[in-house]
Amino acid sequence: MSSNVYEDAWSTVVKSSTMYSEGCRRGLEAKIPNYSIERVLVVGVGGSGIVGDIVASMFDGYEVLVHKSFDVPAYIGSETLVLAVSYSGETAETLRAVSQTLSRGISVVGISTGGRLAKLLGWERLIAVSSGLEPRFAVPEMTGVAYGLLCKIFGVDPTNFLEAVRELEQYLRSVGVEDFRIVEKLVDRIAVCISHTHLRPAGLRLKAQLNENAKHPAYYVEMPEACHNEIEGWTDLSKFFYILHRSGFEDVVVKEAFDWVVEHLGGRGGEYFEIVVDASSKVAELLKQIAYADLLSVSLARRKGVNPFSLTTIPLLRPRLRKHRPKFSQQGD
Ligand code: F6R
Repeated sequence: MSSNVYEDAWSTVVKSSTMYSEGCRRGLEAKIPNYSIERVLVVGVGGSGIVGDIVASMFDGYEVLVHKSFDVPAYIGSETLVLAVSYSGETAETLRAVSQTLSRGISVVGISTGGRLAKLLGWERLIAVSSGLEPRFAVPEMTGVAYGLLCKIFGVDPTNFLEAVRELEQYLRSVGVEDFRIVEKLVDRIAVCISHTHLRPAGLRLKAQLNENAKHPAYYVEMPEACHNEIEGWTDLSKFFYILHRSGFEDVVVKEAFDWVVEHLGGRGGEYFEIVVDASSKVAELLKQIAYADLLSVSLARRKGVNPFSLTTIPLLRPRLRKHRPKFSQQGD
C-alpha cells in the first residue's frame, strides 16, 4: 500500500477545521424558506447519519432529533422540519424517509452532493457540499452546513461554534503520529468505544471510523447505561481494547462510573486507553475528540496496511438496498 493514502487521509482530517467553518458559512447563507418550526429531525445513515448526532449534541436545549432509518416517526407533522443528510444522495433508507415525509406534506431540506436526493427535493431545497470525497471524510463540511442551518432556523449565534473550530485548528497543529502509539495494543483486539452525554458522537464516530477506515471490529458502549448491563459481560477481557472518552466536564455520576471502569479493567489485566483533551467548552472538546478518533482510525489502517479510503464489504450489500429506493417514473429511473 502506498504511504500516500495515509498521508492523504491524515491531511484530510487536519483540514477538518476549515471544512467546519466553511460549511457553517454556507449553512448560514443558505437560501431556504423562513420555516416556523419547533423541531428538526435529522435523517441519514452511516457517515451522513453521524452529522445528526453531532449537531444534536451541540444544540442541547433545542429539539434536534436523529433518525437513522427509512420510515420517519408517525408523530411528526408540520411543526417539524426534516433535514435529510446524504453525501451521495443515493442512499435507499434516506431517500425512502424523504419520499415518505414529502407525501405527508412535511417540509424537507437536504445536504448532499446531488444524486436522487436532488431530483426528489429540487436543488432549491438542497445545500450542496463539495463532491469527490468518501462520505465519512466529508463529515466536517456536512456538520458545518447543518450547524449553520440550525443557527439560522433557531436564531442561534454561531460565534461559540466558530471559536471551538479555531481551538480545533490549534489542536490539530499539535498532534502527531506519536500520539497514536496505542494502535499497537489495538491491532489484535476488538475495540470497545465507551462514551457519554455530549461526547456520545465522538464514541460513535470512533467506532464507525475504526470499522470503515481500519476495517476493524469495534463496538459502541454508552455510559452510564453500560453500568447496568454491559459490564456484566466483561468476562474475557483479553479479546478487547477499551477506549474511554473522558471529559473535563464530566458529571459526578459519569466520573464515578469511568473511575470504576479504570480500576476494574486495570485490576484484571484489561487493556484500556483514556482519550483526554484540554478544551474551553463542550463543543471544542467534542470536535477535538472526533478529530482524535479520525486520526486514530487512520493510524490503525496504516498499522494494518489497509486502505482507509476504500470499502470492501459495504459495497457488496449496497445494490440489494438500492433496489428499494423510491422510483422516479417520470425520469425513467
Ligand atoms: C462511506 C460511509 C458510509 C455512507 C453510508 C451512507 O464513506 O461512510 O457510512 O455514509 O453508506 O451513504 P451517504 O452518506 O451517501 O448517504
